[in-house]
Amino acid sequence: MAIMVTFLNLITIFSLVSIGYSLSLNYYEKTCHDLEYIVAKAVKDAAARDKTVPAALLRMHFHDCFVRGCDASVLLYSKGNNKAEKDGPPNISLHAFYVIDEAKRAVEAKCPGVVSCADILALAARDAVFLSGGPRWDVPKGRKDGRTSKASETRQLPAPTFNISQLQQSFSQRALSVKDLVALSGGHTLGFSHCSSFRNRIQNFNATHDVDPSLHPSFAAKLKSICPLKNKAKNAGTTLDPSSTTFDNTYYKLILQQKGLFSSDQALLDTPKTKHLVSKFARSQEAFYEAFAKSMIKMGSINGGQEVRKDCRKIN
Ligand code: HEM
Ligand SMILES: *[C@@H]1O[C@H](CO)[C@@H](O)[C@H](O)[C@H]1NC(C)=O
Ligand SMILES: *[C@@H]1O[C@H](CO)[C@@H](O)[C@H](O)[C@H]1NC(C)=O
Ligand SMILES: *[C@@H]1O[C@H](CO)[C@@H](O)[C@H](O)[C@H]1NC(C)=O
Repeated sequence: MAIMVTFLNLITIFSLVSIGYSLSLNYYEKTCHDLEYIVAKAVKDAAARDKTVPAALLRMHFHDCFVRGCDASVLLYSKGNNKAEKDGPPNISLHAFYVIDEAKRAVEAKCPGVVSCADILALAARDAVFLSGGPRWDVPKGRKDGRTSKASETRQLPAPTFNISQLQQSFSQRALSVKDLVALSGGHTLGFSHCSSFRNRIQNFNATHDVDPSLHPSFAAKLKSICPLKNKAKNAGTTLDPSSTTFDNTYYKLILQQKGLFSSDQALLDTPKTKHLVSKFARSQEAFYEAFAKSMIKMGSINGGQEVRKDCRKIN
């Protein structure tokens, strides 16, 4: 019994240390009852005007959580001589920040000063997935916004050139498992990539191969034609899952056909465990949806900031 109590205390202490504050489903029940409706409407209206919005919001939440925890640091603007995350190197396609501004404005009108930008972003990412035909999950809330955003820290994000051990390390540093890695990578069923993110695979791959041999030859040829070496079109690139704009499990089917876009996507076949999960999610969309929702909640609880920002673009 004494041992049990000590063990439970240890778990409590550990979770306090790793979570910092705890999130809850009914966090704003009394203080901002209409929050979820307001955010969902802002996302829906924006997505109706611009189809690229859902992918942008999902990726924005991921980038937020992987740098300083989910603290809306990704939303801060550069100020004075401080270059913020959004002006850091992998900023290449983060966009649609205005959607969070619009949601925040509508939320502030109803319940001023209580809802963090980080919570609005977490809700918007959930709504983006659901709006794209994917799963819907209840978002635990109560995040706080951070006061620091540094461009140099975007180097902490995993790169598309990462191999499987680098990916596992990047996720495990944030207490995310191999299953989280495989499930969350399924976010690449949505959205667009610029040529620079996969050029490593189609030109000068290594000393013996010009093209990454793990790329299907016809897919490699297609990518080469989209991204010629002396490509002048700054916006050249391709959708991550060309088969549809729906949030589905096609991403995993493509990987099994050697048609994953990034090295980091194709690398999910490189260990028995990750390969098994790719096959499982390719077979069962249900299993993918369930795992994705769970992993989003886990990623969404990476601890961050300390205040509720009034304006998502700047600290109070
Ligand atoms: C596992 C490590 C990951 C790597 C290396 C990675 C890398 C990338 C890269 C290079 C792009 C294309 C950027 C561009 O060229 O414009 C991209 C796009 C995207 N990523 Fe990831 N990503 C990872 C994980 C995730 C996760 C966990 C999510 C969300 C759950 C996610 C969601 C997205 C989405 C939705 C897009 C499309 C964005 C748009 O169209 O605006 N990614 N990712
Ligand atoms: C991305 O970073 C570059 C270089 O710091 C900057 O010039 C550009 O404005 C940034 N793009 C966005 C969309 O923030
Ligand atoms: C992954 O890349 C790192 C850094 O380049 C390297 O040290 C490691 O051996 C690679 N691992 C695998 C499994 O290829
Ligand atoms: C190039 O990559 C291929 C496939 O990963 C590998 O078999 C080959 O040994 C690599 N060559 C060099 C010189 O690293």
